[in-house]
Amino acid sequence: MKNFRNQIAVVTGGGSGMGRDLCLQLAAEGCHISLSDISTDTAAETRDMATAIAPTGTRVTSHGCDVSDEASVSAWRDAVAAEHETDHVNLVFNNAGIGGGGAFVDGSRDDWERTFGVCWYGVYYCSRVFMPMLVASDEGHIVNTSSINGFWASIGPHRSHTAYSAAKFAVKGFTEALVTDLRLNAPHVKASVVMPGHIGTGIALNSTQVLGHEVSAYVTEMAAEFRNSAPTSSEQAATIILDGVRDDRWRILVGDDAHVIDSMVRDHPEEVYEQSFLQRLVEQNAMAGVVNRQRGNTSFGHEND
Ligand SMILES: NC(=O)c1ccc[n+]([C@@H]2O[C@H](COP(=O)([O-])OP(=O)(O)OC[C@H]3O[C@@H](n4cnc5c(N)ncnc54)[C@H](O)[C@@H]3O)[C@@H](O)[C@H]2O)c1
Repeated sequence: MKNFRNQIAVVTGGGSGMGRDLCLQLAAEGCHISLSDISTDTAAETRDMATAIAPTGTRVTSHGCDVSDEASVSAWRDAVAAEHETDHVNLVFNNAGIGGGGAFVDGSRDDWERTFGVCWYGVYYCSRVFMPMLVASDEGHIVNTSSINGFWASIGPHRSHTAYSAAKFAVKGFTEALVTDLRLNAPHVKASVVMPGHIGTGIALNSTQVLGHEVSAYVTEMAAEFRNSAPTSSEQAATIILDGVRDDRWRILVGDDAHVIDSMVRDHPEEVYEQSFLQRLVEQNAMAGVVNRQRGNTSFGHEND
């Protein structure tokens, strides 16, 4: 898909970070958008921001939707069909995600299942629910956001990272398998998996809130550190993702750190969970985010996972 003008896109997690920047860049090109978020307020903010910069006639709508709840996703799909007066969508961005559920052995089961539920089942339910509308389009593209944690289940050897990694591996495997499934059964629809490195967003605070944890001063400080130390901004990430869709790339790595880690994981597969691998990443200047999180004893800014 070379041009997003007059296409219809749905974007999950559009209230913040990369989802918001995807919406703004799509709207600027004249793409009609239905965006959703678990936060109805931030979704509405993005809708207003996108509408303000979109060419006249571009339709932007927003919805509250919990992607980990299939009924909520189905209700959003019905609203998309009604408000955009359409039987099809051209683009599905499965972007919503949270960090958390680090320790499987002795961590909170609720956090684990909430993180897996958003990061995996969110992608699964939205893919299930919107696939018929993608297939009904003349040209479609499903874009599923995984992570570097979709091919490297770690943020370093001193910190558990199980639920998020398990979900992101699932998203990557599902999307890779969809490439062939779509070629066989709906060749006008493409699939891409997005694997960002460290991107400067508010994911730490947002995740803390979605998990229902207290936003302490410590969490706020770590979250600011996570956002401010990122080598790639959310806006840059959205541009890289949309360029990848235009170029019809099924794998979209986001950020120099993601490229370095991708090749190092292939070069040193047996070493990737050792301290020496972290040291290699530090030498390549690829892991500021991980090293900061190790120092702060935190993953995505959480105290408790
Ligand atoms: N920021 C990074 O460094 C990074 C790295 C790799 C992958 N990612 C992935 O990129 C995606 C976007 O993250 P971001 O960094 O822009 O974070 P973000 O927190 O800024 O945006 C995520 C949005 O998803 C929403 N959300 C959370 N739970 C939801 C739910 N149950 N239903 C609907 N919406 C929900 C949040 O409210 C938020 O607006 C996520 O899938 C994340 O895992 C981020």
